[in-house]
Amino acid sequence: MLISGKDLLQRAHEGGYAVGAFNTNNLEFTKAIIEAAEEMNAPVLVQTSMGAIEYAGHDEMGEMVRLIGEKAKVPVALHLDHGTDLGVVMRCLRKGWTSVMYDGSKLDYDENVRIAKFVVDAAHPMGVGVEAELGKIGGVEEHVNVDEKEATFTDPDEAYDFVTKTGVDSLAVAIGTAHGVYKGEPKLDFERLRIIKEKLNMPIVLHGASGVPDEAIAEAVRLGVNKINIDTELRLAFKAGISKFMAENPEAYDPRKILGAGIKAIKEVVKNKIRIFGSEGKA
Ligand code: G3H
Ligand code: ZN
Repeated sequence: MLISGKDLLQRAHEGGYAVGAFNTNNLEFTKAIIEAAEEMNAPVLVQTSMGAIEYAGHDEMGEMVRLIGEKAKVPVALHLDHGTDLGVVMRCLRKGWTSVMYDGSKLDYDENVRIAKFVVDAAHPMGVGVEAELGKIGGVEEHVNVDEKEATFTDPDEAYDFVTKTGVDSLAVAIGTAHGVYKGEPKLDFERLRIIKEKLNMPIVLHGASGVPDEAIAEAVRLGVNKINIDTELRLAFKAGISKFMAENPEAYDPRKILGAGIKAIKEVVKNKIRIFGSEGKA
């Protein structure tokens, strides 16, 4: 069933686990994510970046995920990832997304507060949850590109002020993760996370989680992260699954078989993440 991202994350906050937020671009990624969640009896967020919406079409993307989500045996939220463009955020509200991220992390603080509050005022009467970001997460994610030197960690006092003024439902924090493929092993600032959770007492979001070791993810969940974003690892799995299939079946030309190998590979990653996040059986 399709449910509000707000309810889904509030339950995770109260239950002390994290829900996976997996990026989709097309039918294959959507099927893989939702089938994996069903097999794990886990709630899940299917998230679309602005780039994915441009690629598939806004109506097409919304209708596809909503339809598959509604038929699912587990709670599914349709989430806009990194909505840096207010127009896209508002169109998502109109087209039935059940959760949106307004990403004003590149704006100055007061402007980020002002627009995030505007989004909250529009989204809440529709029952839609709003995520915002404070601090700057490094790396490249579709429309968001933050140089390593530009990345800044979330300040706990500023975070408290931000959520009080805006009324957002969840907050993405910068504590040492980055978007894309890591060069070395990421070092997370767990103490900062602990303080933020204690001060805010609300759902916390971790971006750039692909490539972060399982133990570090488990510790972040223990300290209060409730939504974990995974994109890059799904892309890599999709590519590896298809490459392997083509190497073993060079004559294959049925797209369902070729893409089916990609779906299978994505499902394995999603199921493994759900296990680590602690949301298995929480549907
Ligand atoms: O917003 C999406 C994510 O933060 C995904 O990051 O590509 O490093 O998994 P990732
Ligand atoms: Zn992100």
